Amino acid sequence: MSWDRHVVIKSPREIALMREAGRVTAKALAAIREAARPGVTTGELDALANEIICQHGGIPTFKNYPGPYPYPATICVSINEELVHGIPGKRKLRAGDVAAVDCGTTLEGFVGDAAITLAIGEVSAEAQRLLQVTEQALYEGIAQMRAGNRTGDVSAAIQQYVESKGFYVTREYTGHGVGRRMHEGPQVPNYGIAGRGQVLRPGMTIALEPMVLVGTAQTKVMPDQWTVVSADGSLTAHFEHSVAVTDGEPMILTLL
Ligand code: MF3
Ligand code: CO
Repeated sequence: MSWDRHVVIKSPREIALMREAGRVTAKALAAIREAARPGVTTGELDALANEIICQHGGIPTFKNYPGPYPYPATICVSINEELVHGIPGKRKLRAGDVAAVDCGTTLEGFVGDAAITLAIGEVSAEAQRLLQVTEQALYEGIAQMRAGNRTGDVSAAIQQYVESKGFYVTREYTGHGVGRRMHEGPQVPNYGIAGRGQVLRPGMTIALEPMVLVGTAQTKVMPDQWTVVSADGSLTAHFEHSVAVTDGEPMILTLL
């Protein structure tokens, strides 16, 4: 990952632009939510996201993103034990799968980064609970994104919520500042200690992304060098929004 750890404060005008980038990402994810069903390939979902982003004059942020080799697609699709960074292709979705879809759009120079996890057909009770807990963990974190709070308050809220439900948060992958670059400061892990870390200030824009695992916090990377899976093969989920810190309520940028 290519990180610039500087924190960049955005002006109201820049936040308005980020809202537009975020809206395009949200549109792509909404279309994928509609299209995703058993038999559809992850490559088809990728093509759909690419079409929507391009229709709106955006650029797929993830494509060619630096890593072990340039990221080869518009979205990441991570199924079941795959936590993040799954590469779309010929694999067909099956009933019972949980499919995390992560998408980034660059529009007018700013990035909107968001992810959802979809239940494909009927999924197990445990999978349903995992999706609910992971999405709610995102909102627990967002609620802490107030000026004067610290990144540790956000991290601790996510960790405590997830662990209170008996699940695990990853240690290796984190939320991040987002702006003209996909990865800026501050880094916002999904675990931490309230009262620690950087102070949040109005104009900070942060992509919060709880990555939750059913059986372990441990992960490993597959031979394709991108796909991250749970070390024990247990189910995982991922939800993400790009969010601005304001003088008042946190502003979610990646909404329709
Ligand atoms: N939302 C992910 C992140 O913030 C997506 C990155 S995938 C990549 O790290 F391929 F672009 F790296
Ligand atoms: Co992100």
